[in-house]
Amino acid sequence: MTKQQAEEKLRQYGQEHVLKYYDILDEAQRQKLLRQIEETDFSVLKNIGLAGEKRERGRFEPLAAMELPQIRQRKDEFEKIGIQALTSGKAAALLLAGGMGTRLGTDAPKGTYDIGLTRPVFIFERLIRNLLDVTEPLGVWPMLFVMTSEKNHETTVSFFKAHDYFGYRSDRIAFFKQEMAPACDENGRLFMEAKDRIATSPNGNAGWYSSLIRAGLDQVIRDEGIEWINLFAVDNVLQKILDPVFIGATLDAGVSVGAKVVKKASPQEKVGVICQEDGHPSIVEYYELSDEMRDAKDEKGEPAYNFGVILNYLFHLPELDEVVGKGTPYHLVRKKISYLDENGDPVTPEQENGFKFEQLVLDLIHELDSCLPFEVVREKEFAPIKNKTGIDSVETARELCKQNGIEL
Ligand code: UTP
Repeated sequence: MTKQQAEEKLRQYGQEHVLKYYDILDEAQRQKLLRQIEETDFSVLKNIGLAGEKRERGRFEPLAAMELPQIRQRKDEFEKIGIQALTSGKAAALLLAGGMGTRLGTDAPKGTYDIGLTRPVFIFERLIRNLLDVTEPLGVWPMLFVMTSEKNHETTVSFFKAHDYFGYRSDRIAFFKQEMAPACDENGRLFMEAKDRIATSPNGNAGWYSSLIRAGLDQVIRDEGIEWINLFAVDNVLQKILDPVFIGATLDAGVSVGAKVVKKASPQEKVGVICQEDGHPSIVEYYELSDEMRDAKDEKGEPAYNFGVILNYLFHLPELDEVVGKGTPYHLVRKKISYLDENGDPVTPEQENGFKFEQLVLDLIHELDSCLPFEVVREKEFAPIKNKTGIDSVETARELCKQNGIEL
């Protein structure tokens, strides 16, 4: 892209200041900036007008979950189906590790965080341990895909290498990068991260499948005959990965996606709950629940909207192939974004100062036709680490690990 073409593109979006330092850059820096302008999709900025606005939603209906008693009753049957899928190489795992984990307050990838008390125990290490707990007894090595971003790719890959992949076979792990989106202030003006670089952030976790394909890893999927991918978040240190019972139940139900869910602690709990929206699986946020929905009961007299997702899903790839090109809406997420001020000096803000644009996996699920919500015991499988202290923190996760006999 030439400077003139870049100027034209920026003018369309009112972002001419991006070239403010162009004249003082050396040739390599100029080319780098022009390339970034060429590759960046500025159309996400039009979403800035949606800040604070309520999303339009469709018609909600309850979506029944498979609950613990039902799962216990059919456990052996499901487990057998799941083990068959694992031993025949049909299921793989995918770790979402592209997020910035800003709430934890460290620049390093979240998975490198040490939650140990008497010895180092890294988040990545715990996740791989959970995976090995399933795969070791079966003697199988399912592919583990790890999604990183431009911001943390090298550190993540070298951390795994330095720790000998935490006991997993390195040739069974494939790292790939997700896409980025530009970040802006509250008025939609792009931040500059450096004189030759627009501030960008990972564009959310919905694009995992298209990024996997873009990285050429669909070849591995075809070569190995992988049909199912268990997507999981980096920060839940208790979750079971490639859980055969979950795999079996999802396959048996014949749905496009299985979703691990936990029962709401109380009707007031502030979690998004799984439901149907206009006939498709969906998540309704706690602030979108009407009083009528909050009070609705199922045939057993239990709350009809009662299960929250924990970001552990089993996707059937043929159905994903049908929706992958569709694109999901962008959400504006208020975050702390480092930037160059008017004088060109770097600023690291103490408070949220702008927006990042993210596409969420929830919206990808809504594109699919059917979903099985699969209940898990919260205290045994849900220990998310979002913050350093308080709710969903290193502290609460340590306590839950202790309760589950995991020494840290
Ligand atoms: P979170 O919603 O907790 O986001 O991600 P985050 O960006 O990591 O954390 P904060 O909000 O800045 O503190 C849920 C999961 O989705 C992944 C994260 O790595 C985590 O496993 N994720 C999130 C991505 O892989 N890419 C993204 O762009 C965003």
